[in-house]
Amino acid sequence: MVVGLVGWRGMVGSVLMARMVEEGDFNHITPVFFSTSNAGGKAPDFGVDADTLKDAYDINELAKCDAIITCQGGDYTKEVHGKLRASGWNGYWIDAASSLRMDDDAVIILDPVNRNVIDDAIANGKKDFIGGNCTVSLMLMAIGELFRRGWVEWVSAMTYQAASGAGANNMRELISGMGVLRDSVADKLADPASAILEIDKTIANTQRSDTFPKQHFGAVLAGSLIPYIDSQLDNGQSREEWKGQAETNKILGNTDSDIINIDGICVRIGAMRCHSQALTIKLTKDIPLAEIEEALRQSDNPWLDVVENDKPASMERLTPVAVTGTLNVAVGRLRKMNMGGEYLTAFTVGDQLLWGAAEPLRRMLAIIQG
Ligand code: HSE
Repeated sequence: MVVGLVGWRGMVGSVLMARMVEEGDFNHITPVFFSTSNAGGKAPDFGVDADTLKDAYDINELAKCDAIITCQGGDYTKEVHGKLRASGWNGYWIDAASSLRMDDDAVIILDPVNRNVIDDAIANGKKDFIGGNCTVSLMLMAIGELFRRGWVEWVSAMTYQAASGAGANNMRELISGMGVLRDSVADKLADPASAILEIDKTIANTQRSDTFPKQHFGAVLAGSLIPYIDSQLDNGQSREEWKGQAETNKILGNTDSDIINIDGICVRIGAMRCHSQALTIKLTKDIPLAEIEEALRQSDNPWLDVVENDKPASMERLTPVAVTGTLNVAVGRLRKMNMGGEYLTAFTVGDQLLWGAAEPLRRMLAIIQG
């Protein structure tokens, strides 16, 4: 199978390439590497021979591929996908960007959760397979089994989203900001007798100064948080919050009559690449906690780490530091709430670049290869 790879050099693309090398995916495909800026240049070496880089805007070259995986971003998708389809190309388009996600012809891919929806779509001749929003995918990787069993009436997801979701420059900005903060009080920190309120005042002044690094986020993240992600919608939600319900239901294949309400507030925090979420889940009935934990543990999801609801386990396994860079999705703090037996709370952590972005794409490639 000839597979075109677009946007392989960016952050998500690089994570994808690393995973494909790790899993030996290149042994099963003939890769063609595309570039938006360096056509004719040397193709990267991921252990397989590839020709020179092709122009990512050349519809004829793209049309020679049986499948195309792109991490190039939404503007590229908007520019190229329509033209490519209009040229008569009937290959598989596998995309990390959100532009096509809600199209009727597109399927949102998260195969550990919706393999049935994906298989039906392939059988029905669908060819556009799009990775989901990272927060939605990570929430479903954590509690997909509860949805599968029909136990979920609604979910409120309060998120703690990492800098990586906003891009590579934002991760740099976060670390730069942390460094600026530390440097501003270095002498006082070195003196154990210095007054903490003096340190605090200097930090606040530093954060509020015009020169503090905030060009990419538009607000200070280091030592603070930003309670707004993505664009503003007319209904009071941010676009990130809107995606929760829209994409979850599309991934699960729910239609108008069985839509599950999902809502919450999405917040950017100073983690690097793990999104965390505090979930309030209204169950369809009072299911014993032990049964819920058992259902999660026995679910067909080998990546799920069900963390006991105690302090040592939560501090060891249920943090961005514990999960980052791994395919594990941790879910813990599982308990019934004061509101009653139908109210379950949970906390979940997952790597935004792996299950939240790259992993579903490479797995989709494996699915179409049969
Ligand atoms: N929109 C997400 C975020 C990342 O800003 O964290 C991509 O799904």
